[in-house]
Amino acid sequence: MQIQNNISLKPYNTFGIDVNAKHFVSVSNINDLKHIISLKAYTNKLILGGGSNMLLTKDFEGLVIHLNLKGIAIISEDENSVIVKANAGENWHEFVLWCIKNDFGGLENLSLIPGNVGTAPIQNIGAYGVELKDSFEMCEAISLETKKLQCFTKSDCKFGYRNSIFKQKAKGKFIITSVNFKLTKNKHNLNIKYGAITSQLELMGVSNPKIQDISKAIISIRESKLPNPKEIGNSGSFFKNPIISKTHFNTLKENFEDIPSYPISEDEVKIPAGWLIEKSGFKGKRFDDYGVHKNQALVLVNYGNAKGTEILNLSKLIQKTVKRIFGIFIEAEVNIL
Ligand code: FAD
Ligand code: EPU
Repeated sequence: MQIQNNISLKPYNTFGIDVNAKHFVSVSNINDLKHIISLKAYTNKLILGGGSNMLLTKDFEGLVIHLNLKGIAIISEDENSVIVKANAGENWHEFVLWCIKNDFGGLENLSLIPGNVGTAPIQNIGAYGVELKDSFEMCEAISLETKKLQCFTKSDCKFGYRNSIFKQKAKGKFIITSVNFKLTKNKHNLNIKYGAITSQLELMGVSNPKIQDISKAIISIRESKLPNPKEIGNSGSFFKNPIISKTHFNTLKENFEDIPSYPISEDEVKIPAGWLIEKSGFKGKRFDDYGVHKNQALVLVNYGNAKGTEILNLSKLIQKTVKRIFGIFIEAEVNIL
């Protein structure tokens, strides 16, 4: 383990923003991690996983700790289920593929989400009708204050839509080091209620899907919609889908007949932010080296050498315009640093 100085973070963030870290270290075991966080010389620390949910707007004047803790293990199993532990530095999609290869069900709808296992609980990653919390059993995290490992059960984590205790009360106080999942071994609970999955399976000629087919269907759908960060820099959805009252929704419907919505509760609905941004005229717009993706208005992109501040300013302009037209505030999903 070696602490390096003045390292470009461009290869470490999927937006491809070129800023420097004053100090940078890649950590591959818990003891090294405990040692690093105890060093008094580095007060300002940034934990880095896959860098797929952050917008870097300036150089980082502290120590970037790149989590590289690897390892996947079966902890226990019975006839129907298995508990699998994955360390924080495992790549999420590779871990999902490992589960699918072993015929362990539960994570197939979350195929091809970038980033690391250790970050997945922070915003309770979700896609295609499934969220991380549905298979989550517990996670271990080191407290930056006590330097001790602590367990967080599902109820401790207070998971919500793109939310958990790690974005609220525990924000910036813990480093998640591993996650345990409870997965099915047979009698998988297939989740194909999202329309796009059914039609993709039909297209693939599959009438009796297995978890492997669902994963393949999800991968195809995602590849057709979302830009590959290796080709165009991005961080997935830049904003969360806003939740508004039904009263507000009914007023909007008078002027915008085609406004889509998903029921949340008796009084609330969720509106796709992509629709609000598209209707505000931003879809496919390009400014210099940055813009809004042509197929998915929720995704802001870096065509090459954009600055983080340029993307941040565009996001603020989008927020202001959506608020002016619809009276809805769209909150950033991406972590802005
Ligand atoms: P990073 O960007 O490295 O870190 C994110 C934040 O967590 C930072 O604040 C960092 O300091 C902190 N952090 C990182 N690791 C730890 C740790 N171990 N302990 C404590 N803090 C930590 N998300 C979805 O939910 N659903 C999707 O469908 C989806 N699709 C995406 C598609 C694309 C093309 C892209 C680029 C992103 C997408 N995302 C999606 C967002 C992203 O993949 C997830 O949020 C992912 O969990 C981020 O993981 P990461 O390791 O890259 O996080
Ligand atoms: N839409 C538009 N124009 C657009 C994009 C979307 O009108 O340019 C509308 C359409 O009505 C469409 C609806 O939005 O039917 C939903 O679009 P999509 O299915 O692409 O999903 P999303 O709501 O835009 C969410 C997640 C994604 C996740 C997908 C699939 C959030 C913030 N985003 O996107 O997560 O992959 O659903 O489940 O909840 C991420 O978090 O980074 C991410 C990519």
